[in-house]
Amino acid sequence: MRIGILTGGGDCPGLNAVIRSVVRTATTQYGSSVIGFRDGWHGLLEDRTTPLDVAAVDGLLTRGGTTLGSARVAPAKLHAGLDTMKEVLAAHGVDVLVPIGGEGTLTAAHLLSEAGVPVVGIPKTIDNDIDGTDLTFGFDTAVSIATEMIDRLHTTAESHQRVLLVEVMGRHAGWIALHAGLAAGAHLTLVPEEPFDVDEVVRIVCERFSRGDSHVIGVVAEGAAPLPGQMPLRDGGVDEFGHRRFTGVAQQLGAELERRTGKEVRATVLGHVQRGGTPTSFDRVLATRFGLHATIAAHDGKVGQMVALRGTEIELVPLAAAVARLKTVTPSRLAETGAFTG
Ligand code: F6P
Repeated sequence: MRIGILTGGGDCPGLNAVIRSVVRTATTQYGSSVIGFRDGWHGLLEDRTTPLDVAAVDGLLTRGGTTLGSARVAPAKLHAGLDTMKEVLAAHGVDVLVPIGGEGTLTAAHLLSEAGVPVVGIPKTIDNDIDGTDLTFGFDTAVSIATEMIDRLHTTAESHQRVLLVEVMGRHAGWIALHAGLAAGAHLTLVPEEPFDVDEVVRIVCERFSRGDSHVIGVVAEGAAPLPGQMPLRDGGVDEFGHRRFTGVAQQLGAELERRTGKEVRATVLGHVQRGGTPTSFDRVLATRFGLHATIAAHDGKVGQMVALRGTEIELVPLAAAVARLKTVTPSRLAETGAFTG
């Protein structure tokens, strides 16, 4: 068998561990071969490939990023290039395609699958917002990095009796904010799923200082927004993928808080540092297991599916179900922070 593999969307720690896992499992367990397509779907649209054997994946387990390169491709380009992609796959003798990616990549994988291409998807994203899997690799690493950064901000905030707002990634889902906030003892957690009440944030900040607390740490997901009419955020327009361009919610909320509380506020945007560097051991294991089980599924002819973590086991879920909706933070998970914030 010949497996084609690509990594799409924003990169995340653990992608290289999956590539290594697929290559090692395919070659050593099945005597199969693997070809890599470069820069996400561009590799298929423009026939850009790289051979992948055991030597090529040596040392990849611990390395962040993706050795195949990654990119976002607009859905219209994918629809228009469907026939080209099928021809390129046929020309390289690919029997099963294994795309590794988040919502956009898996939606494209579903499109190809519907068009008759045998596909086994692998979910990745630091955002942890893919439905059908308990976790995606990359998330644990991002939360660990954000937690360490917030731990550090506690001490400097304390020294200066300041409010520190930490903006973390999370366009539609606040999982990183929720977990890093709990892990690092944040006093406020603001997520995209629930518009925040600026008056309530002001109240919490004032109350903490008036009862003698030394500082306030707030974790703010980049996609968080205030209740309508309270504090309009600057409009950054939309990008070519239809995504709203963020204009820095932490910074803007910080200015409002400074004005209304008289306290010094600083905003720290963690940005892409959350996606860089080596994966945690948890993510290395999850990525390795995803790669292993995707390769087994490909050889068993179980296509049109995505590998998923369910409890402690790796299972297969239909791609159609996995991309039907995003997995966002539920009100009950958000309510769990209640005892530790404020
Ligand atoms: O989807 C992962 C993610 O890191 C989001 O959390 C973030 O909004 C986005 O990618 C950033 O994308 P880019 O790397 O294109 O700036």
